[in-house]
Amino acid sequence: MADKRTPDQTGLDVLWREEDYFHPSAKFVGQANLTDPSIFDRFALENIPEAFREYADLLSWDKYWTQTIDTSDPPFWKWFVGGRLNAAYNCIDRHLESGRNKTAIHYVAEPEDEAVQHITYQELWVRVNEFAALLKDMGLKAGDRVTIHMPMVPELPITMLACARLGVIHSVVFGGFSGKAAAERAEDSQSRLLISMDSYWRAGKLLDHKEKADIAYDEAAKLGHELEAVLIWQRYPGKYSSPTALVEGRDVVVNERLEAFKGKRVKAVSMPAEAPLFLMYTSGTTGRPKGMQHSIGGYLSYVAGTSKFIQDIQPEDVYWCMADIGWITGHSYIVYGPLALGAASVMYEGAPTFPDPGRPWRIAQELGVTIFHTSPTAVRSLRKVGPDEPAKYTFHFKHMTTVGEPIEPEVWRWYYDTVGKKEAVIVDTWWQTETGGFLCSTTPALHKMKPGSAGPAVPGIHPIIYDDDGNVVPMGSGRAGNICIQNPWPGLAQTIWGQPERFVETYFARYCKDRSSTDWRDWPYMAGDAAMQSADGYYRILGRIDDVINVAGHRLGTKEIESAALTVKEVAEAAVVAAKDEIKGVVPELFVSLQPGYEASPALQEKIIQAVATELGPIAKPRHVWIVSDMPKTRSGKIMRRVLRSLSDHGEAGDVTTLANPEVVEAIRTQVQE
Ligand code: WTA
Repeated sequence: MADKRTPDQTGLDVLWREEDYFHPSAKFVGQANLTDPSIFDRFALENIPEAFREYADLLSWDKYWTQTIDTSDPPFWKWFVGGRLNAAYNCIDRHLESGRNKTAIHYVAEPEDEAVQHITYQELWVRVNEFAALLKDMGLKAGDRVTIHMPMVPELPITMLACARLGVIHSVVFGGFSGKAAAERAEDSQSRLLISMDSYWRAGKLLDHKEKADIAYDEAAKLGHELEAVLIWQRYPGKYSSPTALVEGRDVVVNERLEAFKGKRVKAVSMPAEAPLFLMYTSGTTGRPKGMQHSIGGYLSYVAGTSKFIQDIQPEDVYWCMADIGWITGHSYIVYGPLALGAASVMYEGAPTFPDPGRPWRIAQELGVTIFHTSPTAVRSLRKVGPDEPAKYTFHFKHMTTVGEPIEPEVWRWYYDTVGKKEAVIVDTWWQTETGGFLCSTTPALHKMKPGSAGPAVPGIHPIIYDDDGNVVPMGSGRAGNICIQNPWPGLAQTIWGQPERFVETYFARYCKDRSSTDWRDWPYMAGDAAMQSADGYYRILGRIDDVINVAGHRLGTKEIESAALTVKEVAEAAVVAAKDEIKGVVPELFVSLQPGYEASPALQEKIIQAVATELGPIAKPRHVWIVSDMPKTRSGKIMRRVLRSLSDHGEAGDVTTLANPEVVEAIRTQVQE
């Protein structure tokens, strides 16, 4: 259960003042997809759910749906019931007639001497068909699950779309996560296959990725789950580029096996609208990640609609979302949203600052990128290492997005002035893995921008802020509360895979007044973020209310990191806190106490850091491990993370009167401040 406080994880509410507005340029407004303010009337609360017909109509349906929403099993809403469609057909086939030779994916490898691949819709269609034929030949069928653990290569969306073509449910695990993390997700989803790759480039190194596939296979077996096969794509087709040996009889080199499927075509399977398209695992309050299940019809409608209206993607745009497809942002706004609209979507393999901080701007210049989408962490780091770089290149963005974490006004202004060259609009989009697509953001041609605020809600989303007692926190009150969405929308996850009770408890239980009600008005969705609404109606997101921390826009569960630390035998207790960081916004700091008989040492600190990297992946590595004599605890024995967080941020413990052992605070304070 989320705990009852409403913390300001980032301290934004106290530190940030109200900012001045920026207006979208007449040039932007003149060309925008959405300039008619009546959209907000069309999507008013009283027009929910019917208003979302407008989004569903952006798709091609094999069979049109008969019921907009089925609420008979609350809160497991079913959208567009009776409809049938195929996601891959919508993202590829239907664009062939008018745009066969149009680029679907511009692929930029990290090494600059590797040519950019411009993959047309026709070529994407061929490659997706051939790989789907291969999967089908292996016996994969609609409803089966497949775990994909791949880096940023075109074969990743090809794999996803091949699954979608067959109705197979894909579960993509971020490539930077460990093999063990992939194994847990493969086990949880009962995936038949693991699809991986031999290697990829990151920050100048060709990393061995295949070794993670071996770990994933073995770890899944330890969990009692036997994967039927491990499919390995080659980073360089025709050449196996990994020092890790192939396992005879288990590993399938995809590029070799594909030879037999040249020219093969597979009919897109017509799927019910409410069948699952994919699972995306995300962190929550327990150590067990949640497999958020997204539907075909609802999800695809929602990401197509928001890509059109909020991203303002148009046929001639070159759209670059510099995120990883292994996160929800990449699913919704690199793959499914843009391709559903027939757009040209850029994918970049490597590190944004490799080999130098001018790299993203060279890519933008070379490809003529018009829409750019990234995280505040990337903006902070590009600003820090190359504040004057954007001015050296001739790119011109019309539109820029930030996503995943709050952006400080100062950083926002650099993004606006220097990257956007004062021409581009910025949308600060607040949403979540669970929500499929954007919840709050300015609508770019209709709203003025305010640095540091996500903005009002997007069309069809009706937020409400409740305090812990269920009272509405009014707009302009200066108070924060738990932000909820009053109404269902088609992008909302259908459930947590295999844990329907957890879905109800985590997102709905707190503010549902009548659990037997089949009226969606009784089931507000609780996002798990603290937020406040200014007098102008703009929302400012203050941070998580649960045990989740947001490192560089990546969501990590404190419990997951703590469990990883506890795999080290010397560790008795572990507590993670979110500490402020200049570049990443927030980073984990780990406090541990040891089992009796062990001594603190730098080697032990390193061992604990490594354990976290092995269990979860390098992004979860704590900035520092503090080995303390004891944890500050309440009388009931609960670790007081608040005290640790304050100590790590500014060295003051705050109120310690409820502690059972206040004396440890002073000891920790001295240690942290050394
Ligand atoms: C946070 C990423 C402030 C928030 C799309 C949310 C944000 C969590 C913003 C979801 C934003 C996302 N401003 N905070 N614009 N966008 N967040 O599931 O705490 O990886 O609950 O989805 O990121 O992270 P997730």
